[in-house]
Amino acid sequence: MSSDGNYDSSPILAELYDLIPMHTHRPDRDFYVEEAKVGGGTVLELGCGTGRILLPIAASGCGIVGLDLSEHMLTRCRGKLESTPTDVRARVQLIAGSMTAISLDQSFHLVIVPFRAFQHLQSVDDQLACLRGAHRHLEPGGRLIVDLFHPDLKKLSSWDPSVEIEDCAEMTLPDGRRLRRCHRISAAHVAEQFNDVELIYYLTGANGISERIVHAFPVRYLFRYEMEHLLARSGFHLEHIFGNFDRSPLTDQSPEMIFVAKKN
Ligand SMILES: C[S@@+](CC[C@H](N)C(=O)[O-])C[C@H]1O[C@@H](n2cnc3c(N)ncnc32)[C@H](O)[C@@H]1O
Repeated sequence: MSSDGNYDSSPILAELYDLIPMHTHRPDRDFYVEEAKVGGGTVLELGCGTGRILLPIAASGCGIVGLDLSEHMLTRCRGKLESTPTDVRARVQLIAGSMTAISLDQSFHLVIVPFRAFQHLQSVDDQLACLRGAHRHLEPGGRLIVDLFHPDLKKLSSWDPSVEIEDCAEMTLPDGRRLRRCHRISAAHVAEQFNDVELIYYLTGANGISERIVHAFPVRYLFRYEMEHLLARSGFHLEHIFGNFDRSPLTDQSPEMIFVAKKN
């Protein structure tokens, strides 16, 4: 089963990713920039995508290495880097590869895995390979931050494959195209804790011709204590679990689970 999120299944997905306000306005950017600045040194971002978090971290003065498995996401990130000031560009290194097989000649004071990228990993072996790889690449006392969605048992059990839920109302893009996005769970695999998710983009060209572009991938969900055990098995000591990017505690209503762990 795919453990890469299928971002290369269509060449347009990387561009569409950057157009969705739910992505561009996700309230995690300042959190990660602030954490990157603690202690100084270089940051490693696993699953850096198009640079949504990586670029602001570099702009804040920190060095950052971004690793991603998707050629298209990395190409888009490189394109954005070309229009950033030279000093910002000089602080960034992009590497193609899997977060389950990290092998770099460098250690970091912080490893981050933003926007639930860890949930693309399906098996416990892949999860442990990722966390242990992050551990090996941290300096003594270095930290790891991973965010996951906080599983909502009601939502997870009330999926309906015949319903597409609109999460981005139709908007007109600067070049005249119109874009609308929906999502649906096409199947749920409760015993294995993953859902087959589809992000469905409706794109209408300036010529009026519409396309339906489906980004389909499995999403593994993890519960709080499961993640705590995985971190402990990988040599981490848990410092904080936040329920949102304002650093509020994890409660029943929290949308996120943000794990801040230190290398033992
Ligand atoms: C939801 S996006 C997050 C991108 C970026 N961190 C952000 O916050 O906008 C998930 C990213 O993880 C990458 N990814 C998925 N599986 C991966 C793996 N096994 N190794 C490296 N990157 C992976 C995808 O290619 C995609 O760019």
